[in-house]
Amino acid sequence: MSLDNPSRITITAALPYTNGPIHIGHLAGVYVPADIYARYQRLQGKDVAFICGSDEHGVAIPMKAKKEGVSPKEIIDRYHGIIKQSFEDFGISFDNYSRTSAEIHHRTASEFFKKLHRQGDFIEEVTEQLYDEEAEQFLADRFVVGTCPVCGHPEAYGDQCENCGSSLNATDLIHPKSTLTGATPTLRSTKHWFLPLDQYQDFLKEWILEGHKNDWKPNVYGQCKSWIDDGLKPRAVTRDLDWGIPVPVEGAEGKVLYVWFDAPIGYISSTKEWAERKGMHWEPYWKDQNTKLLHFIGKDNIVFHCIIFPSMLKAHGDYVLPENVPANEFLNLEGNKLSTSKNWAVWLHEYLQEFPDMQDVLRYTLTANAPETKDNDFTWRDFQARNNNELVAIFGNFINRVTVLTHKYYNGEVPPLGNLTKVDEQALGELRGFPKKLSDSLERYRFREASQELLNVARLGNKYLADEEPWKVIKTDEDRTKTIMYIALQIASALAVLSEPFLPFTSKKLKNILAVTSSGVETSWAEVAKKPMLLPSGHQINKSELLFRKIEDEEIEAQLAKLEATKKLNAAEMETTAPTMEPQKETITYEDFAKMDMRIGTILEAEKMPKTDKLMVLKVDTGLDVRTIVSGIAQSFTPEEIVGKQVTVLVNLAPRKLRGVESQGMILMTENTEGKLVFMNPDEAGASNGAEIN
Ligand code: MF3
Ligand code: ZN
Repeated sequence: MSLDNPSRITITAALPYTNGPIHIGHLAGVYVPADIYARYQRLQGKDVAFICGSDEHGVAIPMKAKKEGVSPKEIIDRYHGIIKQSFEDFGISFDNYSRTSAEIHHRTASEFFKKLHRQGDFIEEVTEQLYDEEAEQFLADRFVVGTCPVCGHPEAYGDQCENCGSSLNATDLIHPKSTLTGATPTLRSTKHWFLPLDQYQDFLKEWILEGHKNDWKPNVYGQCKSWIDDGLKPRAVTRDLDWGIPVPVEGAEGKVLYVWFDAPIGYISSTKEWAERKGMHWEPYWKDQNTKLLHFIGKDNIVFHCIIFPSMLKAHGDYVLPENVPANEFLNLEGNKLSTSKNWAVWLHEYLQEFPDMQDVLRYTLTANAPETKDNDFTWRDFQARNNNELVAIFGNFINRVTVLTHKYYNGEVPPLGNLTKVDEQALGELRGFPKKLSDSLERYRFREASQELLNVARLGNKYLADEEPWKVIKTDEDRTKTIMYIALQIASALAVLSEPFLPFTSKKLKNILAVTSSGVETSWAEVAKKPMLLPSGHQINKSELLFRKIEDEEIEAQLAKLEATKKLNAAEMETTAPTMEPQKETITYEDFAKMDMRIGTILEAEKMPKTDKLMVLKVDTGLDVRTIVSGIAQSFTPEEIVGKQVTVLVNLAPRKLRGVESQGMILMTENTEGKLVFMNPDEAGASNGAEIN
């Protein structure tokens, strides 16, 4: 099921939300690998459309606007500008960077919805949804947080849990709370349009679980499998909101398309915008069976790109499906999760102020340490080491030696080639093998591996020079020295060609030094694999120039100090804002209270729920019976320390399933001053199991 020789490749990179600038996490997870891939394919002569744009709908935007007291339009304009600039600065070579507020996108998304509507692909249904009485607004997505019913994470959003990646409906949340007012929502009925994902279950099963078992990354495949195995449910694709694309059918006043319905269609609109500008047709890039469609994303986007968007494309009927979705895991910074709100990040625009012209160093570091198979950590020390020990000491050093010696011995002219020795043949043979090695890694989305393979080209050059020692040979054998330098120069020019996808700025600089751009020298990967003789004898190179500079300890210490200051600031803020006291809830009658049946019980057994952080499965003797209770206490207690403890249990709470286990009650808890959970335990009372609380 894979296209070995596609006619064209459509590469999409997740549309970033325009509610803040972008940082190294975005670059490492999505944009650098996507860019390496796009540049690589263009170098193979492929017809590539590399597509992106700003994601300007969704609740995050009006929320940010409200916080700053400005209009949503002001927010999107500001960040669209900053983000677009950062991409340009870092050489992310999009063929088109659009935005979802563009007219062409509104039109495209509306038409998409209307077609599915006409075909009867939606379920129209009035259901009860969460409502904030105070804000007079329905609550969905980021307007509501609550405990994730799957993993117990206490801050899951209405559409997704960022802890376990589950896609949720707002009404699934346990203890939901409005993020607008803090109020506990009520339920109100409202009409929405649902995409019946359950009807796509078989299609997805066949397409992903059977068709892509071997070529999708295990993390992506595994997430898909678990959703499909759990059984898919209809998903609302409309929202009661005033920011977004109006639902283009009758009876939908005041409703907009769900942001995750419109945003991926943004890939299509952006392709259209590009094609229109170039006077081309956009359709083949989305509809031709010979098109390879790829989505580069972070792991929190997997469900949308592998389940929901493909179902939309399938429903539409005439689109190709993604051939692969090489999603990455997350990047951390100095051991902590990157966070926009806590300012725990390296912002791209700030990085460039502090390390001007050093885009490639960051691109390289993030690639060499990419979170491809697991979450990874960015540290400034590692950044320094990668630069000083690899880019400067290996890559830069080799180029510098070759170009300086060429000027010293031959005034910058490529010398003639004499007889080849065994060592020469071997070096050239090895060089010829690199394009294939790099391709093999890149075609399988192994960018880390590829970046190390690239460095091996420079290693080969260094080793060749160290073994052949032209600086010694020149004293005794001028002809042999010419051949050695000729070969070293070929390795240098191959490096200029092969490094382009990874280090585009360096590649350009190096091509200038070697004057390969000006003289019609063949610079394709295929040429390296064939001959590797790119520079002819007599070719004049330009003045030598340093490609990389050493990064000093003080520069790294300054960055670490900056992060330390952020940490202190965050801690101080925590102190001034916490502790927040919950206001008293509304009055209830004694009858309300008396409905609750609370008993003393004893925990008999306790066991951590597999694959969750917080949940524990307990067996509790309530005096009435021994029952199973699932409780979100695993981060505060070990099973051993709670077995035998007496606790208070709400025994007549309606049972509910958590991760497939039915919980038949609730254990009453509070938090101590350190934020640790403690049981409301009746130790001092000497009560027996089953005793009632009243
Ligand atoms: N804005 C989303 C995020 O940052 C990604 C949107 S990708 C698209 O997580 F497919 F919807 F465009
Ligand atoms: Zn979760």
